[in-house]
Formats: sequence, structure tokens, C-alpha cells
Amino acid sequence: MSIPPTEPQVEQPAIRVRGLEKSFKQVTVLRGVDVDVARGSIFALLGSNGAGKTTMVKILSTLLKADAGTARVNGFDVATQAADVRESISLTGQFAAVDQVLSGRENLVLVARLRHLKDPGAIADDLLRRFSLTEAGNRRVATYSGGMRRRLDIAMSLIGNPPVIFLDEPTTGLDPEARIEVWQAVRELARGGTTVLLTTQYLDEAEQLADRIAILHEGRIIVNGTLDELKRLLPPAEIEYVEKQPTLEDVFLTLVGAATDKEQR
Ligand SMILES: Nc1ncnc2c1ncn2[C@@H]1O[C@H](COP(=O)(O)OP(=O)(O)OP(=O)(O)O)[C@@H](O)[C@H]1O
Ligand SMILES: [Mg+2]
Repeated sequence: MSIPPTEPQVEQPAIRVRGLEKSFKQVTVLRGVDVDVARGSIFALLGSNGAGKTTMVKILSTLLKADAGTARVNGFDVATQAADVRESISLTGQFAAVDQVLSGRENLVLVARLRHLKDPGAIADDLLRRFSLTEAGNRRVATYSGGMRRRLDIAMSLIGNPPVIFLDEPTTGLDPEARIEVWQAVRELARGGTTVLLTTQYLDEAEQLADRIAILHEGRIIVNGTLDELKRLLPPAEIEYVEKQPTLEDVFLTLVGAATDKEQR
């Protein structure tokens, strides 16, 4: 009797997708998606509206069943080991899922309790600090700005330290400063060894954050590589001498930052 060799889990990618297909009635969304995401990396899935990004995240987080193909998350098959997959992940959906009536701290404590963790209060306070929400912690979430809600939403998804995190459009609708705060939080996650798969429509977000970037288009991944690899797909840049104009984002951040500094003085 021969025992099939088992790859140690650490050697496997955090996410492995092969030949994934999904249709909704007449609409074919995924036509054979292949993707690997290395452990501890940040992977950005880009695509236009309706490309199938959310569909893919839902399949990987066991909320939807694929029609064909396989997907493994943290070594577990999404179709046959859904409970193990759910234990390994957290999902921050495209629309924030925080309770508006509760305070930020109460939201965090609630999730920590649901996960049967020891000392929910300490966990909540630690996350409030990491996401710069300590001051607002005891206020009702209804009074939070969009950026604060998003940060709280991501903080909630970290409770229990899942090894794989899905963020579906984490910064859509946020102002530039709030986006940068979310980016910092995501970078910190990856530094701590968490694997992050995020979807975005913002190219700069992928440039800023991702170790690898894939573009989902007409049901398939049409490119997948590092930013440098993707840039090399185009002809080399011609050298031109131009005055570098600040981007609108530079102007916005400088003026808003200067005004905030003044207020704090
Ligand atoms: N439950 C559903 N029933 C029918 N069609 C669906 C369903 N969910 C998604 N679709 C369709 O599948 C396609 C892909 O949708 P999906 O939400 O995955 O796109 P997306 O890339 O996340 O888009 P967005 O950038 O707008 O969030 C769309 O055409 C959408 O209308
Ligand atoms: Mg979507």
C-alpha cells in the first residue's frame, strides 16, 4: 500500500484556483479562472464593473458554489471543506457590515464574543488603537464617517486572526486620506503574515499595495504579475523632459493636510 505524499501546508499557496467557472442563468461570468496567491502576500484582482470580482470572492469564501473547477483556500477545498475554509478566512464585503446602533467598540466586542475569544474587551481596544479609532470607540457607528466605518469593518474582520482575508473594494467611496489609512492597515496585515486578496477598480490602489496584480476580463485572468512585470508588457517608456506637475491627489492631500495641521495647533 502506498501512501500518497502530502505536501506540507506551508508549501502550498494560500489560495489556489483552477478552471473556475460560474454562470448566472444566461450570464457567463467566470470562464475558467486560474490563480495562485502566495502566503503572506497582497494580491489585487482588478476588473471593470461586472467583471466577476465579487463573484470570485464569494466562491472563495464559500458563499457561492462554482459550476466547474476547483478552489482551495488555506489548503482546504471550498466545495468539500467549506467549514474549514470559513475558519481560515474573513470577508469584508463591498458594502460595510457594521451595526450602526452600536458603538465601534461594541461591534468589536460582539464579534469577539461570537468567535468565543477570551477577553473581548482587550481585543476590541487593541483593534481600535491599531485602526486609530480609540477616541471614537464609544460613539455610535451611525455618527462615523465612511472612512471610519470601513476601518472598523476591516478591524472586525481581523478578530480571531484568520490567515486569509478577502477585501472586496475596501476603499470605494472613501476620500484620499481615508484610503491611505486603509492601505496602511492592509500593509500592516500582510507584514504580520496574513494573506490578503483584494478587489479594486482603482489602479493606483493596486500599484500602491499589491505584490501581484491580476486583471479579470471577460471571464478570464488576462494578465497576472508584479507591477514591474505588468509594466514591461508595454513598450519601454521614451525619455521625455517635462515639468512634473503635481497630481490632483497631491494638491488635495497637501491642502487638506495643511489645514488639519493648523487646526491641531
Ligand atoms: N446573484 C446573481 N444573479 C444574477 N446575476 C448575477 C448575480 N451576481 C452577479 N451577477 C452578475 O454577474 C456579473 C458579475 O458580477 P460581480 O458582482 O461579480 O462583478 P464585479 O466585478 O464585482 O463588479 P463591481 O465592480 O460592479 O462590483 C454581473 O453581470 C452581475 O450582474
Ligand atoms: Mg463587486
